[in-house]
Amino acid sequence: MATIKTQSGSLDVIAGGSMESAGELGVLFGCHRGVCGKCATDIAAGMDNLSERSDEEKAMDLDPSRRLMCQCRIMQGTVELDLP
Ligand code: FES
Repeated sequence: MATIKTQSGSLDVIAGGSMESAGELGVLFGCHRGVCGKCATDIAAGMDNLSERSDEEKAMDLDPSRRLMCQCRIMQGTVELDLP
């Protein structure tokens, strides 16, 4: 089990699962394919608990604190998103 948190909520998810569950915590999605950038989210804590950056994330040249929620997976522990 792993946990996705925001400032106001948390969600237990399967370790190794998609971060798309973060939609339940307020993350907005568009393409779900790593192209539009709509799901880019600041990671407040637990960046090391996420999977390696996908080719799509690398191509988008995001700020180091940001990840695409449609591309990364939560591998273990807790990941805190910088969301209210
Ligand atoms: S929803 Fe488009 S990049 Fe994630």
